[in-house]
Amino acid sequence: MTPRTLTTAVHADFELEVVKGSWPDDISGDMVFSSPQRCTPMAYGIFDWGAICRLALEPGTRGATSGRFAWQSRSIQTPGKRLWDRHPNQFTTSAAGYQSVFGAANASNTAPLPWGGRLFTTWDAGRPVELHPRTLEFVAEVGHRDSWGGSSLDMPGVLPFLLSSAHPVADPDRNCMWTAKLDFVMEPSFGMRPAVVRFDPTDGTNVRYWPLEGITFGGSTHTVSQTRDWVILADSGNFKPDPAEIFGGDRELTIDDEVPVWLIRKEQLEGLPSGTPVTPICLTMAPPTGHFYARWEDAEGISVVWEGMDLMDLGLYLKADDLDVNGNPVDPAAVGQYNMAMAPETIVEVLFEPESGKVIERGRFREDWTFNLQLSAMDWSIEGMTRPTLHHVTYQGCRPGSISQRAAKLYEGRIDLDQLREATPGSLATFERGSMELKARWEYPDLGDHITSPTFAPRSCGKNAAHSAYAGAEPGGHDGYVVQPVHSDDGFRIEVFDAAAVGNGPIAILMGTNKECVPMLLHSAWMPVYDELIDAERLRFSDELSDELMTSVPNELHGAIRAVADECNMLIDSAP
Ligand SMILES: [Fe+2]
Repeated sequence: MTPRTLTTAVHADFELEVVKGSWPDDISGDMVFSSPQRCTPMAYGIFDWGAICRLALEPGTRGATSGRFAWQSRSIQTPGKRLWDRHPNQFTTSAAGYQSVFGAANASNTAPLPWGGRLFTTWDAGRPVELHPRTLEFVAEVGHRDSWGGSSLDMPGVLPFLLSSAHPVADPDRNCMWTAKLDFVMEPSFGMRPAVVRFDPTDGTNVRYWPLEGITFGGSTHTVSQTRDWVILADSGNFKPDPAEIFGGDRELTIDDEVPVWLIRKEQLEGLPSGTPVTPICLTMAPPTGHFYARWEDAEGISVVWEGMDLMDLGLYLKADDLDVNGNPVDPAAVGQYNMAMAPETIVEVLFEPESGKVIERGRFREDWTFNLQLSAMDWSIEGMTRPTLHHVTYQGCRPGSISQRAAKLYEGRIDLDQLREATPGSLATFERGSMELKARWEYPDLGDHITSPTFAPRSCGKNAAHSAYAGAEPGGHDGYVVQPVHSDDGFRIEVFDAAAVGNGPIAILMGTNKECVPMLLHSAWMPVYDELIDAERLRFSDELSDELMTSVPNELHGAIRAVADECNMLIDSAP
């Protein structure tokens, strides 16, 4: 069973204090998290409006009392969220989140992305969103809807439906962001066609996109990765929209055993007009995954750590009348949460060979305990991505209480039920990049501990945001700290490990001064202390409100749309 407080705790600001060990004095910056709020009882909670949470890694900063650590949480007030605040009755929900006459609202609830002195948050079904790095207030969405090539599927409303990626990647050479967009197409077969999207701050309020010629598929592009010369997209394969379910029936689709990967040479896109199709190099990988990370240096090939999500179907969620695999009713607090992994996960390092189209395996790790590989921590500096040394991975353990009999039946023949009967401990594990040899492991034997997105914090970064490119003396992932958040109904904890010695256990533990609990967190990131909203041209919601789009929304709602546009303009114009 997962902690009940994942869904019952509320977002709030509080302070943490050291309850064990001693806090390192050469750790700095902030750790930021994305989290879906629980604004509406909806079938599948991961689609609800996003919040950003921030933990200050230095005591007495961000408004905390001396010696204590600030935790702050803010709702991400996109134009869609502001319209929902005004007219919640104009929104309905389904297993795919909110629908509305206003269009498709951006929940931006999945991952934070600090980049170039700016803070963005992301979602698979919306554009990246920029927040003010000090106040955490919404500032702007990225890229005018027309520059994205319009909605992924034609629909009325002033809010565009833009299927994208929750993990865009920042290119340190070109000073741009690479992400993806999916369009529904009928040719060459019905499905979604992926496109590469590039956002250059120098392009102001526009992005550029290039559809992949001849490619259609039925999944999602959760992660975008890169090397110096290549952009890498893949069908995440773990999340498939199921027409049977969308039309009110039971889910019938299951995830694939292998997925396509597409390589696009960055040089190929230079000077190519936006909208021009490009032909990718196609490879095949197994198992499917949401998360993969390439080494930046590609002179000796495209080396990728592929965090396999074997039999982890993110389209499946728990329903009120579900029984778990042991025949027990599912905890009401877990209803609306995702169905957890039905097999141990495989992590693998591979070399993609663009010339031959081959995938060469360099290392692989999978044992009985490697259930629910969800999230990882690495050194995101340029130097760290060029020569990565260690890769830190959080495994949440097997959680039979969050695997439904319905899911088990759908996957009959592909799962071993005997392996799913007992809950097993979670672990923070360190792997050597290249070989995927297990270097260290710290186990969480208390089954009430639910460990979530860790992050790597470099040593001695200081307060200078210019150090965001890189901070420590020895890049790669071993010289610094792994910060591991732990959900528990007995109180949320932050545990800090020496990145070179995760197996020794945490060197310091923080808890809320009132043993506060925190609702479910998704991805996290480390960032230096950014305070100012840097000068940049930003998209205004009002710039998208063409007469044609406005007439697609009932007249009586135009006042609310204009009011939201005015509010958003104020945020850009008056930002300190
Ligand atoms: Fe993700």
